Amino acid sequence: MDITSIGVVGAGQMGNGIAHVMALAGYEVLLNDINQDALDAAVARIDKNLERQVSREKVSAEDKAAAMSRISTTLELPALGRTDLVIEAATEREEIKHQIFDTLKPHLGPDTILTSNTSSISITRLASRTDRPERFMGFHFMNPVPVMQLVELIRGIATDEPTYQTCLGIVNKLEKTAASAEDFPAFIVNRILIPMINEACYTLYEGVGNVASIDNAMKLGANHPMGPLELADFIGLDTCLAIMNVLHDGLADTKYRPCPLLTKYVEAGWLGRKVKRGFYDYRGDVPVPTR
Ligand code: CAA
Repeated sequence: MDITSIGVVGAGQMGNGIAHVMALAGYEVLLNDINQDALDAAVARIDKNLERQVSREKVSAEDKAAAMSRISTTLELPALGRTDLVIEAATEREEIKHQIFDTLKPHLGPDTILTSNTSSISITRLASRTDRPERFMGFHFMNPVPVMQLVELIRGIATDEPTYQTCLGIVNKLEKTAASAEDFPAFIVNRILIPMINEACYTLYEGVGNVASIDNAMKLGANHPMGPLELADFIGLDTCLAIMNVLHDGLADTKYRPCPLLTKYVEAGWLGRKVKRGFYDYRGDVPVPTR
């Protein structure tokens, strides 16, 4: 299928990154959120991130201007029905995602492809509530979207081959690399990454190391660009906990039990960088470990 326009639901961290790379690759992007402030902040963030790419000579000033001109915003979710492909990147709560697809349903063109950027929820279950499970799949980007090379493509049980090939074509046009994953809890990246982060939380909880020693150990000892606790703050501790719960519930194996210390941080509202406090405190000039 020839895709020219893309609707993005949710203008948060992932949604604005997806809008950024799609517009830069030449797609018309219609970005939706329930809140005008979130839309304004997303456009400002895209402008800033594109400017960073211009200053590092990764993108020309003309390409930046063209990308910005391809992005429109709307508070009206039904307006996305006129796009060729929708990527849902809203809050990681299944009920909200079902509501979004229910609201879109009467406004969709017959061929519109529906996708979700969910990091762990069953694609088959999300698809089953729509009128087009064969044209539904998982389109999972990594954060920060403009920098990370990988996109996970997840087929639901009913996803047809033309839908998969269309999404693969988009990944190729973005000059990113696709990894094809089956629809099992947390797919590939988060099935491996989030239990590692959870284990880092246990390592902290049991006093084997403090925040700085755990992060330094993995940065310098395993060549990870960020330590696991720094990465947890970057992803969001609520998201990490939600993914551990999906693994624990979906695979029914105690090896996936969420660390009580991770739960405690989430209960405290210390969700990581987005609220300026998680395993590190970001309110000063430099991040300060909380343990
Ligand atoms: N937009 C555009 N460019 C960006 C950017 C953004 N949002 N953020 C960083 N960059 C660019 C910088 O401009 C810089 O570009 P150059 O190489 O051209 O200089 C480059 O990225 C590196 O950035 P910095 O020098 O500022 O910082 P850094 O070297 O510390 O790298 C990082 C930052 C790329 C985030 C690196 O720390 C990293 O790779 N961290 C791990 C990220 C990771 O694991 N992400 C996956 C999370 S899991 C996930 O997303 C799945 C899920 O569902 C939870």
